[in-house]
Amino acid sequence: MKKIITTVLVLLVIVLLAQCQSQNTESDSNKAEQKKEKPVMYEESELAALMHEVHDLSAEWKQQLENGEPLTPIPDWVSDVLTAEATNPSELEGGAFTPLAEEYLRKLELLAKAEGEGRVDAFNESIQTCISCHQLYCNGPIPKIKKLKI
Ligand code: HEC
Repeated sequence: MKKIITTVLVLLVIVLLAQCQSQNTESDSNKAEQKKEKPVMYEESELAALMHEVHDLSAEWKQQLENGEPLTPIPDWVSDVLTAEATNPSELEGGAFTPLAEEYLRKLELLAKAEGEGRVDAFNESIQTCISCHQLYCNGPIPKIKKLKI
């Protein structure tokens, strides 16, 4: 039983890493070969873990907007997006990452202030900022992120 759980966990980690580390141009067979050659264990980075939380938070807001309910206030941890350690921190240095992360936080503040019909627009704009950053740094989750739009 333990063995099965370990195997499943290892596979899960590999799948998650493949999402972010593969380039669009690589074919599936290339990815499969790389996995065979490099059976290295990685831990999920702080940033990746935070991204999962941010995704769930957005899904919650989407539900609340669709039900016409008040939105959960922006949690404090969201601003950790500026400092959380990424899988490959050097890739994010000096580029557009910090400005885009700041823009994302600004969009959330606009969303929190928005009223009536404006709430859905403000929400969709916040999701668009996720997509803008992902187009530069981490293509894999884009289809999943697009599903958050209303
Ligand atoms: C400022 C840039 C930026 C913004 C904004 C951003 N992301 Fe990310 N996201 C990243 C980077 C970089 C990674 C890769 C993290 C790593 O591997 O350490 C990532 C990883 C992810 C992952 C995959 C985590 C994994 O490795 O399993 C998901 C899912 C995700 N983001 C969803 C979102 C959603 C949803 C939003 C908006 C609500 C969002 N992101 C906003 C840059 C961003």
